[in-house]
Parts: sequence; C-alpha cells; structure tokens
Amino acid sequence: MRGVVSALPPALAVRLFSAGRTAFAKRFAVDVPRERYVPPAQMAVTAMGLTFRMPLWNAAGMFKNGEAYDVVSAQGAGAYVAGTTTSRVRAGNIRDGVTWPAVPYAHSHASSNWMGLPNAAHRAVASRLATLERIPGCPIGASVSAEPGLDAAIAVTELIDGMKMYADAGVDYIELNESCPNVPGHAHREALDADLLRRLDMIASQVLSRRDRHLPVVVKFSNDTSIEQLPGVVHALHERGFNGIIAGNTSTRYAEHAPIIDRRDRALYDYFTATYGGGISGAPLRSDSLACCGVAIAARDACGAGDAFEVIRCGGIAGAEDLAASAAIGVRLNQWYVGYFEAFGRVGHRVYRDVVSRMRS
Ligand SMILES: Cc1cc2nc3c(=O)[nH]c(=O)nc-3n(C[C@H](O)[C@H](O)[C@H](O)COP(=O)(O)O)c2cc1C
Repeated sequence: MRGVVSALPPALAVRLFSAGRTAFAKRFAVDVPRERYVPPAQMAVTAMGLTFRMPLWNAAGMFKNGEAYDVVSAQGAGAYVAGTTTSRVRAGNIRDGVTWPAVPYAHSHASSNWMGLPNAAHRAVASRLATLERIPGCPIGASVSAEPGLDAAIAVTELIDGMKMYADAGVDYIELNESCPNVPGHAHREALDADLLRRLDMIASQVLSRRDRHLPVVVKFSNDTSIEQLPGVVHALHERGFNGIIAGNTSTRYAEHAPIIDRRDRALYDYFTATYGGGISGAPLRSDSLACCGVAIAARDACGAGDAFEVIRCGGIAGAEDLAASAAIGVRLNQWYVGYFEAFGRVGHRVYRDVVSRMRS
C-alpha cells in the first residue's frame, strides 16, 4: 500500500492511508509471532538502572493504549513504551472527514502525521500495563503528556496523578512527552518556556523526589530544538532529578526537509503539510537527531552527570548503521518508528533479528 500512496491524488491518498493505517494497527497488535527472538547477550545495555537486551525499541505513539507488548517483546525489542496518554480520553484530530490523518512518503523513508494524541487516558492504560507479564530485558515504559488545551495548573495536577497511576501500575520508566506538534501547548517558542519550567518543577517535587522505588523519568523534546538551547535543557532536567532526555520527536520544519523528500512524494508532502501541518518522521530527522544527541551528551558531560543522565536517540533510525553512528557519539539507547515499519515491511517479525545480523561486532 505504501508504494502506491504517492501515485494517488493527495487528498485520496491521505483518506485511504489514514483509514488503512488504523485497520492495520489493530491487526498488528494481536499478531504475536510464533517464534520468539532473544537478542544475543552482548547486545544488552544497562542504563537508568534497567537492563535493555537491545539498544533499540519502538518509539512512543505506536501503541497508544498499551497494546502489543507481547508482539514486540517476542520480536526481540529492547523495551516497550505505551502512549502517549493524557488525563482525559482524547478522540484525536479529525478534519474533512479524515480521522487521525497520516501518510507515508514511501520513496523518502519518511512520513507525516497529524493524529493529535488520541488515547484512552492514563487510568485505562495504566490498568492494562499492570496486567502485563514482563519479559526479561524488555522493560515497560509509559509516555505521558499534560492534557492539551487545559488550564496549566489543572493540567499539571492531572499529569502528576497520571504519573502516579503508572508508578502504581509497576511500569519500569516514564517518558514525559513535551513535543507533540499536533496539539495545543506543545510548541514551545523557547525550549524551556515558563509553563514548561513550572511543570518540570512540580514533577520534580511531587514525583521525582518522592519516588519510593526505582522509576526513571525522561523527557522527550523535539528534534527541532535549537542546538544553542539544548545545553540549558539538559542542565535544567539534570538539576531537577530527571533521568534523561529523548531527542526527539517529529519535526515541523517543512521547508527545510523538503529537499530530502523524493520528487515522487513531493505532491503528497506539499499537500499534507499545507492542509494539516503535522509532524514529519523518518529519514529527514536522521542527522538532526544525531546532532541533538551529540550536543546533549557534551552538555551532560559538562555538568558532570555521566551515566546518571541518559541521552536517548529517536529520529530517522533505520537499522544497524544508525545504531553504530549513535554508539560512536556515546548514545546507548535508540527508538524507531518509521524505520521499524519499513523493516517490518521487508522482513516481518524478524525486524530485531535482522538489525542484529547486520551489526558489526
Ligand atoms: C503516527 C505517529 C504517531 C506518533 N505519536 C506519538 C506519540 O503519541 N507520542 C510521542 O512521543 N511521539 C509520537 N510520535 C513520534 C515518534 O515517537 C518519533 O519521535 C518520531 O516519529 C521520530 O522517529 P522516527 O524518525 O523513527 O519515526 C508519533 C509518530 C508517528 C509517525
């Protein structure tokens, strides 16, 4: 389906792919592979007090309601993350009759989405995660966000309640998503605006300093975060007791990424970004995520945080070569979304086995 999408009139392509994607996601979530893959022991990474048996796992937004842990853990993923969830049930974005607009740019290893964080809310997903049987080396994470569009004081209180629900559900780590371009309130003009700093302070005092068990919390920023501001972000997170940063989320730099989009995908790209806006994922983010992580690691080292502050790369990861590029700058953990589905299209459930087979030891 991905290959033909760019040949269709753009409006029809968005309509068809968005519906097809939702149907596929439902089937995918229950398609547990019969054969279970366990990555070789030398792939394992110990970070944030957890063991990840692979330095790679599926990025947030794939399993919004806590589905498919048994699918990706059987494939060999290094961890799992549910969400992003919010404090109230969200229907997500619908425009011109298209629910959760998304398209792939098949010739460009990229995609756009304007889904708007549809989810069943913290409580429902935390309850679901509480029932999962853990596979060793595949920790369970939850991605959370403040409820978009709500008064900031109420939103942070509800966010903190949600984080506590996940803590009680026994999750192994939490990602705070501060960087979804498809909802109000996430597009910070400055990397650290006053609202965000207040939110971080409250989470630090009401969640981080009151942890009665080991529960790392990392914050996900956009890959569009300016390189000049990143050291300040790392410093602010570290001094408040956060355990790391994920760099990062989708991009809204449409004009800057346009040259990387294959000419066969350009009509669809121009249509989607003009009609919906949305966030760009995949290959166009590869160099930005590497650059952001390099700066974050230098900043971490400058504030003496060492391994106590993790820098996790997400954006444009497509396989073994990207993991090697990450490792070369000191990044130990990676997440993928577009690259995962492209690999799944090629090798099916053997996605993680395939990455491992291409790694140079
Ligand atoms: C359809 C779609 C939905 C997403 N939803 C979320 C989300 O709910 N929370 C989040 O933190 N990131 C979300 N993302 C962003 C991805 O987690 C990831 O940061 C981004 O796609 C860059 O990684 P990639 O280049 O490997 O795709 C979403 C991405 C896509 C394509």
